[in-house]
Amino acid sequence: MSRAGDGDGDGDETGGEHAHETGDSDANSVTAAGLVRVRGGRRTLDGVDLRVQRGGFTALVGPSGCGKSTLLRLLAGLETPDAGRLSVFGQPPARAAARKGVGVVPQDPALLPWLSVAANVALPLRVNRAGERARAAAGAPQRPDPDELLATVGLADVAGARPHQLSGGMRQRVAVARAFALAPELMLLDEPFSAVDELTREQLQAELGALWRRWRTTVVLVTHSLREAVALADTVVALSPGPARVTGVVRVVPGGEDAAEEQVRAHLLARA
Ligand SMILES: Nc1ncnc2c1ncn2[C@@H]1O[C@H](COP(=O)(O)OP(=O)(O)OP(=O)(O)O)[C@@H](O)[C@H]1O
Ligand SMILES: [Mg+2]
Repeated sequence: MSRAGDGDGDGDETGGEHAHETGDSDANSVTAAGLVRVRGGRRTLDGVDLRVQRGGFTALVGPSGCGKSTLLRLLAGLETPDAGRLSVFGQPPARAAARKGVGVVPQDPALLPWLSVAANVALPLRVNRAGERARAAAGAPQRPDPDELLATVGLADVAGARPHQLSGGMRQRVAVARAFALAPELMLLDEPFSAVDELTREQLQAELGALWRRWRTTVVLVTHSLREAVALADTVVALSPGPARVTGVVRVVPGGEDAAEEQVRAHLLARA
């Protein structure tokens, strides 16, 4: 798989020392420094530093409950940090999301049960019809075709089905297709393939990689699977057990997946 990484070999930099650089450069989609999130009186994020390269594919890995979903929700503008600095495309995340530049596939994808699969995927475009007309008039780049997206995630045959007629894994695939329908500049995916078997998972990973390359979206993927992380991402960020801090940032180069996986594992074990 071709990667959008900076190709600086198997360099392994720990998070932190570079992350307090100020300002968003064009090279970054996300810049976070010292992010803290408190829930129920306890910290769920404890000073997270993160930079996501524009056009890159970053995987977030860490133990269950460490705060991965929380971090993704902050990037999506669905929650706000209690301390620290966070910008998405140089803006506060909620503003970036309001410009529809951010797609989210949550851990439990909510589909509208009364709509067919095809209608769920096309919904974001239908809801924003006026915006779509304005985009077209302004000569903006085309959106992916919803039918094509469904075919890409292997669901063309069930386009007319209702969500309750699908398996959990199929619903996750609908959510991935729906999130890509708006061709977001930043795609945030929270364990999108956790409910599918290994073979289907490999197929979907390939399809996600294809969507990423085709639409040049910046991707941040939360996953429990180190294998999935190094197979898909150009950068893997290891998080400590909760409250989350970044314990290591590992670049992955083609052919270097095994070495990268070992490095990520070492970062995870070092703080366990
Ligand atoms: N609504 C909430 N109120 C209070 N605490 C919460 C809430 N949601 C999550 N938490 C706590 O925040 C911490 C981080 O949760 P989060 O869902 O971000 O973890 P995660 O890394 O995504 O876990 P998993 O891998 O199991 O999905 C957990 O300790 C959890 O108990
Ligand atoms: Mg989670």
